[in-house]
Amino acid sequence: MTMNVSGYAARSSTDRLTPYRFERRDARANDVVIEILYCGVCHSDLHTVRNDWGGSIYPVVPGHEIIGRVTSVGADVTGFKPGDRVGVGCMVDSCQHCTACAEGLEQYCEEGLTPTYNGLDRHDKLPTYGGYSENIVVSDKFVLRIPDALDLKAAAPLLCAGITTWSPLRHWNVGAGTNVAVVGLGGLGHMALKLAKAMGAHVTLFTRSPSKEPEARRLGADNVVLSTDDAQMAAAHGMFDLIIDTVPDIHDLNPYMPSLALNGTLVLVGYLGALEPALNTVPLILGRKAVAGSVIGGIAETQEMLDFCGEHGIVSDIEVIKIQEINEAYERMLRSDVRYRFVIDMASLKA
Ligand SMILES: NC(=O)c1ccc[n+]([C@@H]2O[C@H](COP(=O)([O-])OP(=O)(O)OC[C@H]3O[C@@H](n4cnc5c(N)ncnc54)[C@H](OP(=O)(O)O)[C@@H]3O)[C@@H](O)[C@H]2O)c1
Ligand SMILES: [Zn+2]
Ligand SMILES: [Zn+2]
Repeated sequence: MTMNVSGYAARSSTDRLTPYRFERRDARANDVVIEILYCGVCHSDLHTVRNDWGGSIYPVVPGHEIIGRVTSVGADVTGFKPGDRVGVGCMVDSCQHCTACAEGLEQYCEEGLTPTYNGLDRHDKLPTYGGYSENIVVSDKFVLRIPDALDLKAAAPLLCAGITTWSPLRHWNVGAGTNVAVVGLGGLGHMALKLAKAMGAHVTLFTRSPSKEPEARRLGADNVVLSTDDAQMAAAHGMFDLIIDTVPDIHDLNPYMPSLALNGTLVLVGYLGALEPALNTVPLILGRKAVAGSVIGGIAETQEMLDFCGEHGIVSDIEVIKIQEINEAYERMLRSDVRYRFVIDMASLKA
């Protein structure tokens, strides 16, 4: 038995998203069935719809910043009950027994995580479909609790933009006295500013968009550097212990390396692929600097981040849209014209 679900999908890399009906599995013993109320719009949704990374499995139903309410649970589920406020992020399963999974780093599962969309379920091998839809069925280990203090729609982006920036901030031990910079003020970037500030760091934004400066300061930046201004870049020399680079496209990293302090690390979370122009290793070697990468975060640390946000009143700055506006939202995201995350009100699916 399966359940028939309504959502929005892209049928090819050049297709607009349009209404789509598909089947989801009935709940297994350890599954939670969730009515989706809101879903954030991540740049990764757009990359997958347009097949920027290759390997997109069409039809693609994107969406991995999912907020909803539990409607039913399988026989073995004890941690969730109907009515609970829950979230689902970028992954819905992993092997659960490799070294990474055992350490709570399911995102680095040695057998590969099961993505919320554009993947295949580990058990029945059926495609996974994401949150641009009315409900979802997810193994209880991959369901997150949303603290009561948080507004549900504004909490949606925490499930990807939040955890993707939280994880490197924690891994590189950001806290009081740390100097952190963020490159790019979009969905990930604005969460990075808020989280780093709440952790007690001194926070700087690198942006190409001068118009974003006042906003960046409101979001937590102590300092803003216009990356297109050589004098401002030179003034940032040797400053940062950690730079989180959220830029979604190929770009030159070399101008950022001098702004790292001794032992500093630039961690890439945005762009996947070969660097162009090539990275000059001289500043790395002479300053014991590093370039690293990071992908989302584990389930336990995602819950830790959500609880931290509940305690500190941190949510995303959002613009709520109807699902019918999703194609226009993608075009605006490509123009960096989003303040700072679109969130789909899934009630619009029924309109
Ligand atoms: N590693 C992970 O686990 C993970 C998780 C989620 C998303 N991602 C990836 O992270 C990237 C960012 O996602 P997002 O949702 O935050 O995107 P977004 O909302 O579109 O924000 C990206 C920001 O980067 C800056 N930017 C855009 N194009 C640029 C360019 N060509 N050169 C320099 N700066 C540019 C812009 O900021 P300014 O206007 O301030 O310059 C823009 O607002 C995407 O590639 C996404 O796939 C990775
Ligand atoms: Zn994402
Ligand atoms: Zn594993």
